[in-house]
Amino acid sequence: MSNYHIKNLEEYYQIYRKSVRDPENFWSEIAEEHFTWRKKWDRVLEWDFKKPEVKWFAGGKLNITENCIDRHLLTKGDKTAILWEPNSPDEPAVKISYKELHERVGRFANVLREQGIAKGDRVCIYLPMIPELAIAVLACARIGAIHSVVFAGFSSTALATRINDSDCKMVITADGGFRGAKTIGLKAIVDEGLTQCDGVEKVLVVKRTGEDVHMHKGRDLWLQPLLDEAYSRCDPEVMDAEDPLFILYTSGSTGKPKGMMHTCGGYMVYSAYTFKNIFQYKDDDVYWCTADIGWITGHSYIVYGPLANGATTLMFEGVPSHPDYGRFWEIVEKHKVNQFYTAPTAIRALAKEKLDYVDRYDLSSLKVLGTVGEPINEEAWHWYNDNVGNNKCPITDTWWQTETGGIMIAPIPYATPTIPTYATLPLPGVQPALMDEKGEEINGNLVSGRLCIKFPWPGMARTIWGDHERYRTTYFSGFENMYFTGDGALRDAVGYYRITGRVDDVVIVSGHNLGTAPIEDAINEHPAVAESAIVGFPHPVKGNALYGFVILKEVGESRDRTNLSKEINQQITEHIGPIAKLDKVQFVPGLPKTRSGKIMRRILRKIASGDDSSLGDISTLLNPEVVEAIKEGVIKT
Ligand code: PRX
Repeated sequence: MSNYHIKNLEEYYQIYRKSVRDPENFWSEIAEEHFTWRKKWDRVLEWDFKKPEVKWFAGGKLNITENCIDRHLLTKGDKTAILWEPNSPDEPAVKISYKELHERVGRFANVLREQGIAKGDRVCIYLPMIPELAIAVLACARIGAIHSVVFAGFSSTALATRINDSDCKMVITADGGFRGAKTIGLKAIVDEGLTQCDGVEKVLVVKRTGEDVHMHKGRDLWLQPLLDEAYSRCDPEVMDAEDPLFILYTSGSTGKPKGMMHTCGGYMVYSAYTFKNIFQYKDDDVYWCTADIGWITGHSYIVYGPLANGATTLMFEGVPSHPDYGRFWEIVEKHKVNQFYTAPTAIRALAKEKLDYVDRYDLSSLKVLGTVGEPINEEAWHWYNDNVGNNKCPITDTWWQTETGGIMIAPIPYATPTIPTYATLPLPGVQPALMDEKGEEINGNLVSGRLCIKFPWPGMARTIWGDHERYRTTYFSGFENMYFTGDGALRDAVGYYRITGRVDDVVIVSGHNLGTAPIEDAINEHPAVAESAIVGFPHPVKGNALYGFVILKEVGESRDRTNLSKEINQQITEHIGPIAKLDKVQFVPGLPKTRSGKIMRRILRKIASGDDSSLGDISTLLNPEVVEAIKEGVIKT
């Protein structure tokens, strides 16, 4: 029996048991049978969660692009690798075959080399969802440069912080991008950001919107003329399995984002293996993940996982609401999409609109539906199941993280029976544990606790770029010999997992992982603000929205509060991006604090959610009187 492709529940259990009994053998068989290596590894796994240190396939030599492109050329050269659907339905879709992808990645990679980029250099990619984004990512991987993709919705300050943190030598951007009815001037944002970055030597600019942009002499170059001059053949750099492949920033509980570093070999094996099983991909299928490549979902399940399996992966430039709320379904019909992977927040937004937007289109090509990024509520699950899947497509609710590199807990379609809101069972190789607050593992079923992982898996991030100690304290110090996810979960009577949400200071808004600390830092820079605390509260579409409690410097501050709220949101937009804006801002005389000065967010969360009936014992607070004042001023609508 092949371990690679699980087809039914019995196989799942057999393979899962084997993966736990003998993880090294399990992963080495998969790695050997399904991938191209220039040299076999010396050791399958070395690990020590105390240090922490994890190495998979060390000494093995490979290039991930050879696995994602070259090895498909003989058998699938003319097959569409990337199917690009533009923002506007009036612009034709573009099909890029594996052969063309090979040439375009080769040309781009040669341009990078000519512009001084070598193995190990960091390249920041700040692009809209156009084919050049996927090609730039692969071109970096081709020559062993480490890509750091920054989502093109981040502000110039957020971009600059990320560029500086990993010392990027180059930025790849576009004149602008189209998103729905809007045009976003990306080059201008880069120019602004680069006033704070000394290390960037070159900026390559893709022409997309055609608007006028300033080109900084000696630094900025249009990409197309360079590509026109470049050779298409580019021999791949031979990488060690443990060499870095990319850095991707995720927010944390301090102001500084964490540059999660993923490596070539383990990440390739894990993203490819999970893609195959979670989407049950068959050779002629068209697969579509609606995420942006600026997030981990796009890295693993638009680019690397699908291409490593020789799949056709659809990339969409636009948004679900433009030109109307039927856009997703129009694309499914047009390209006969077989697997569709999106976020619960998108489902909730579309479920609010007339059903006619869905019913207008023929969705009968669909076989598998997926969700990712946040818990899916029961109502949204049923809407998705009834109206999009027509009750015939299994829904795979996939739980994972930027840090895990790939899907960890999720039903395998057509094998694992699904229950709404349950991510169900761990994938082979994943050993979850629920822990209590004392650090003891909670065994048995019908229990809940903090979700940890007991054993390494190939896709896990190896470090936080430039800060291994933070990697240790964030993920490996809370529970001995365990990776701590930051999530809470419950295990039901049959061993299914349901993720209940974050147990730290991260809030998931519209599927985006937002640390409260960087937002508070941004607010506190406003001259009128003394201190602030951000918490999440339930929102019907976004899942969670942000509620800010703000103390002003001058008590009785006479300025217009509505304007101040706007300025605070403007401040957040400039420092982070519009995704982190607050839905509600309440000006408060103080914040509830413990005697050691720590803000009691639990109390603020309760108040913000409109349920202040059971705040628990507040008498131990330094300033219990402040709670009443906050309750009185709470913003209800
Ligand atoms: O809280 C979990 C939530 O998203 C967090 C990870 O966010 P990020 O690193 O941005 O990656 C998102 C895409 C993989 C997790 O710690 N999360 C993700 N998927 C689910 C989820 N919560 C519940 N159910 C899910 N399926």
